[in-house]
Amino acid sequence: QTIYLKDYRQPDYWIDETHLTFELFEDHALVHSRLFIRRNGDAGLVPLVLDGQQLELVSVALGDQTLAPTDYQVDEHSLTLHPQAAEFELAITTRIEPQNNTALEGLYKSGGMFCTQCEAEGFRKITYYLDRPDVMSRFTTTILADRGSYPILLSNGNLIASGEHEGGRHWATWEDPFPKPSYLFALVAGDLCLIQDSYTTLSGRTIDLRIYVEPENREQCGHAMDSLKRSMRWDEEVYGREYDLDIFMIVAVNDFNMGAMENKGLNIFNSSCVLAHPDTATDMAFQRVESVVAHEYFHNWSGNRVTCRDWFQLSLKEGFTVFRDAEFSADMNSRTVKRIEDVTFLRANQFAEDAGPMAHPVRPESYMEISNFYTLTIYEKGAEVVRMLHTLLGAEGFRKGTDLYFERHDGQAVTCDDFIAALEDANGVDFTQFKRWYSQAGTPVLEVDGEFNASSSTYRLRCRQSCPPTPGQSEKLPFVIPLRMALLDSEGREMPLKLAGEAHARGNETVLAVTEAEQEFVFEGITEEPLPSLLRGFSAPVKLVYPYTREDRVFLAMHDPDGFNRWEAAQSLAVDVLQGLVEIHQAGRPLLLDQRLLEVWRSVLADAELDQAMVAEILRLPSEAYLIELARVADVDAIHHVREWVRRELANALAEPMWQRFDALGSAAQPWSADAASMARRSLRNTLLGYLMLTGSSAAMSACVRQFVEASNMTDRQAALVALVNSPDEHQKHAALQEFAQRWADYPLVMDQWFNIQASSPLPGGLERVQELMTHPAFNIRNPNKVRSLIGAFANNNLVNFHRKDGAGYRFLADRVIELNLMNPQIASRLVTPLTRWRKFDPARQEMMKVELARILEQDKLSPDVYEVVSKSLA
Ligand code: ARG
Ligand code: ZN
Repeated sequence: QTIYLKDYRQPDYWIDETHLTFELFEDHALVHSRLFIRRNGDAGLVPLVLDGQQLELVSVALGDQTLAPTDYQVDEHSLTLHPQAAEFELAITTRIEPQNNTALEGLYKSGGMFCTQCEAEGFRKITYYLDRPDVMSRFTTTILADRGSYPILLSNGNLIASGEHEGGRHWATWEDPFPKPSYLFALVAGDLCLIQDSYTTLSGRTIDLRIYVEPENREQCGHAMDSLKRSMRWDEEVYGREYDLDIFMIVAVNDFNMGAMENKGLNIFNSSCVLAHPDTATDMAFQRVESVVAHEYFHNWSGNRVTCRDWFQLSLKEGFTVFRDAEFSADMNSRTVKRIEDVTFLRANQFAEDAGPMAHPVRPESYMEISNFYTLTIYEKGAEVVRMLHTLLGAEGFRKGTDLYFERHDGQAVTCDDFIAALEDANGVDFTQFKRWYSQAGTPVLEVDGEFNASSSTYRLRCRQSCPPTPGQSEKLPFVIPLRMALLDSEGREMPLKLAGEAHARGNETVLAVTEAEQEFVFEGITEEPLPSLLRGFSAPVKLVYPYTREDRVFLAMHDPDGFNRWEAAQSLAVDVLQGLVEIHQAGRPLLLDQRLLEVWRSVLADAELDQAMVAEILRLPSEAYLIELARVADVDAIHHVREWVRRELANALAEPMWQRFDALGSAAQPWSADAASMARRSLRNTLLGYLMLTGSSAAMSACVRQFVEASNMTDRQAALVALVNSPDEHQKHAALQEFAQRWADYPLVMDQWFNIQASSPLPGGLERVQELMTHPAFNIRNPNKVRSLIGAFANNNLVNFHRKDGAGYRFLADRVIELNLMNPQIASRLVTPLTRWRKFDPARQEMMKVELARILEQDKLSPDVYEVVSKSLA
């Protein structure tokens, strides 16, 4: 069943107050709700249709009248009542079985604790309710459970009462003063230890900060707590937003479908996004914790105080909040490196989604299963759209707009149009055309070329934009594309920019607004032929095409004053070289490395001024996934072969300067430190170690083994393990893997890394290794982190093995999707994505991929989640 945005209408009833009592037992839970309901406006005598799924209805009472089964109708997804009054109290009791809830949606058990995940539509698996975000209610929640097993009882808001109960049980009552939709409800009951701190807001209020984790993780919470305090300060300073309750809680759970959830006052996190200790977590994990903690905290305003009217508006809170967390991370770390990481991720993954069968606009028009729309397009492209608004308005104008947005809509459930209207009204601008970014799917292509005219001293920049068709949208209208750019002279200096027809010069860098299908910008006073530096900072999520020669790219990689575009030039040079070599390889001709690539790599390697993290980013070749995205028909084997060949060529040719730089960066044994400079040092050192291991020298092998043994931290230890696992030395590889598994057997998040590294290794026999690892005692298909780190990593990172010619990789993935389909539909439907990209591959592979998709479709009990993705991908 498909749901359409155009069908939105207000609910017939509102729920002003929600009183919940949970009685938790080992084999079931009873949920008693008392709802204060009011008919909406002058809606007549309409039935009240409450959402509910997989519930056992125990009793219903309207006012003081217990209803008989003839007074209401129940079906698979609803309870229909026929109230006569315009305002009334409704009391419902349902019985559920959290211990059997493997979908991890609603109320479920993770290890020994009870927890909830209600977004988007999980609350209806707890009790019958108007489970939609425009119904906002004040919640009071009482939890009753065994005191011994569940000493900690938590819900949203403030603790207002607690006490003992008979039979060794106890209870606690929480009250949330802020009206909220059901998707922000949360409950936790477990035996957890508390890490406590406090924060004083700018206005002087003291907030009680609490992180609850299982006792063995007590030492791993410091980084999350620090990140939380920094986020609170940042939101006050950059957006003027203060926290609003007296207590803010984070709980870590091991079984969680996503990263984390912003439930009001009680954020629930996948433990992988909270726990971090240098012994067990890599620098990447530290950064992820920082950004997810910030993301969920920022939702308190962009999501909770101002929420979404309906799920088509999901990007209203997600796109905006991802933009906010990205800016936070940029302010806490290196801005340029953060941008490079995000752009790399977007281009390899969101662009592929935009080009695939599930392509949808940032504000979709329809969906079958909303869980399928927590996508890279809603989150990451949505964040790019907000970033463009920020670029067009400038920081100050954007802040004026968000101030108005929060003030105007506090306590409301609103739309993307309301967000744009606030930015428009605060700045006196018109974003009508800009809003096409919300309604049109697909990645636009921006073709640019330039023409220098010496006699008139002008430079003409010609822009042409287009956007490929996507499902349901064959024609696209022009977007507003902010094009940040500069013109460089032959020394690499920025030239002053003055546009013909404009009174004022624009300085050395400007943002052009490309609004038409074809458009020209004429710069005056240009006395030598410039080289344009375009789309600086990736100022719009488009594919830029400019007829740069390889010399131009070399020049920009060495001289562009803009750090991001220096990286971009090196990347695009590498892409060009790799694509050329793929063709040569396919033609069966010998490969020869373009010396210009080597020279850029050599010069970056020798650049002592450049941020070490930037050096590492530049030296990394574009990923196979990105090269596949760029190809029309991707030859996975050729791409892998050529990319590995280039890596080895670079390593052999540059072994000497690489060793020099490697040695100069100290040792992995030196004490760990969290600062940006140390992280940059580790990043560069480990990038170099990866290259040096490709030379096959015994010096590299012993450096690697030494690092594995001596490393003072997980970042360096893991980098050594990756290099060993991908080396041909079977003995060292197995010794290291075994040692690692023994040492970290009791650390599930470390074992996730151990699975991931092996699943991602492109060496032959990858599928067999993964199949064998599925029988390892640390693997558990019910745990989403394990599924992602073994099966997900194999299908997404190990492209040569996943796409092996006999189709066994496809069959394996389809089998796992079928296995997970009923157990955990959300995870199953995410896992299937690589198969849905069949159009990218050769006819033989296409056929085998489609056969597997069809086999999934034939299963007799298909979840709506899997059905939607698979059926759309075959349409
Ligand atoms: N709102 C959460 C976040 O972005 C994610 C919730 C995902 N829920 C889901 N059913 N996919 O922080
Ligand atoms: Zn979010």
